[in-house]
Amino acid sequence: MTAETRAPFAPLGGKTPEEVFGGLATPCYILDEGQLRRNGEILAGVAERTGCRWLLAQKAFSNYDCYPVLAPFLAGTEASGLFEARLGFEELPGKEVHVFCGAYRAQDFEELLRYAGHIVFNSPAQLARFGPRARAAGKSLGLRINPECSTQEGHEIYDPCASGSRLGTTREQWDKFMTPELVRLLDGLHFHTLCEQDSDALELTLGPVAEKFGDVLPGMKWLNMGGGHHVTRPGYDIPRLERCIRFAREKWGVTVYLEPGEAWALNAGFLASRVMDLTENNGVRNAILDCSAACHMPDVIEMPYQPPVYAGRQGSGIKDQGSGFVYRLGGPSCLSGDVIGDYEFDHELRVGELVLFGDLAIYSTCKNNTFNGMPLPDIYRRKEDGTLERLTAFGYRDFKYRLGR
Ligand SMILES: Cc1ncc(COP(=O)(O)O)c(C=O)c1O
Repeated sequence: MTAETRAPFAPLGGKTPEEVFGGLATPCYILDEGQLRRNGEILAGVAERTGCRWLLAQKAFSNYDCYPVLAPFLAGTEASGLFEARLGFEELPGKEVHVFCGAYRAQDFEELLRYAGHIVFNSPAQLARFGPRARAAGKSLGLRINPECSTQEGHEIYDPCASGSRLGTTREQWDKFMTPELVRLLDGLHFHTLCEQDSDALELTLGPVAEKFGDVLPGMKWLNMGGGHHVTRPGYDIPRLERCIRFAREKWGVTVYLEPGEAWALNAGFLASRVMDLTENNGVRNAILDCSAACHMPDVIEMPYQPPVYAGRQGSGIKDQGSGFVYRLGGPSCLSGDVIGDYEFDHELRVGELVLFGDLAIYSTCKNNTFNGMPLPDIYRRKEDGTLERLTAFGYRDFKYRLGR
């Protein structure tokens, strides 16, 4: 498998978006099962060589119709709370269900015990509140630690180690609040500190983990190294990841879990849209599409993140507007900032033309919304034989009934 076969538009096999997806009503997402399988195979290779166990973080990708494609490669799912835990339990029968939540709701907890086998708490107080009940129900319990090792400067929104973070228990908090009884409840520790990073950042993080919690870890059965490992990105240093996993296994005698979301579905989805209007203002050529950054790819505004586009070079910037075919792609909503980005195309855009975004299986279908009454794009899956199957049929009802009766 080469880096090229994992490129965002490689699944098109040299055909144009119009040839492959031209028959679909836009906007719509298309999930590519071949690419999901290729990602799964890469992760499974690491598991075979190191003995680690992979979980799918459903917050990133939870289109469960595609779970059977990933099932052979994963040990189970990771959930952010009751609903994702239930989804993993229902849709991947027999697989492990792990859950981490910043704080559990008392009214959810009994039901959560039906689905989750591993429950990770964020603080000693949450462990004290719910741990004994979960332990009595035979669950494997963990505590999320905060190794206080930021490996991403200037991105506090996705840095759980940022100063004052609410996520994870620092060593100082551990020393203050973890009584011997609470420590005895634990089977494992969990840390999640990375976002779209290579294994050098994991290696760096393992230093403070060892320094701050090295005395505790030999008493644990497992260590969950969280998500943010961009393992399936071409160029990711897999041998270094494997050294990190072996280090933890050998030094502390723990089973190593990893729970990425993105790595499972990286470059495995598209958002197909069409150009609805073209305007020009002060030298900026705007293309208004039938999809929206704010509604259909919220990470573009939140993180921020810019998806690749077919036949377009991204991030060209306004300065380039005079040269080439540079367009600012935006949605039809009222929000001035509903902009996906500036892209330079190899041709002049036309109204009606299909614009295909790549890498939109992750943090998109599970995070979209109907702001402005924007319809939710339907979701298709593209099977390995190239056939397209519609998985959803969203409409007015989906907009209306989340607002009232
Ligand atoms: C606790 C936890 N685990 C796993 C993940 C998945 O991370 P990613 O999709 O970047 O691999 C996240 C993402 O925020 C997370 O908060």
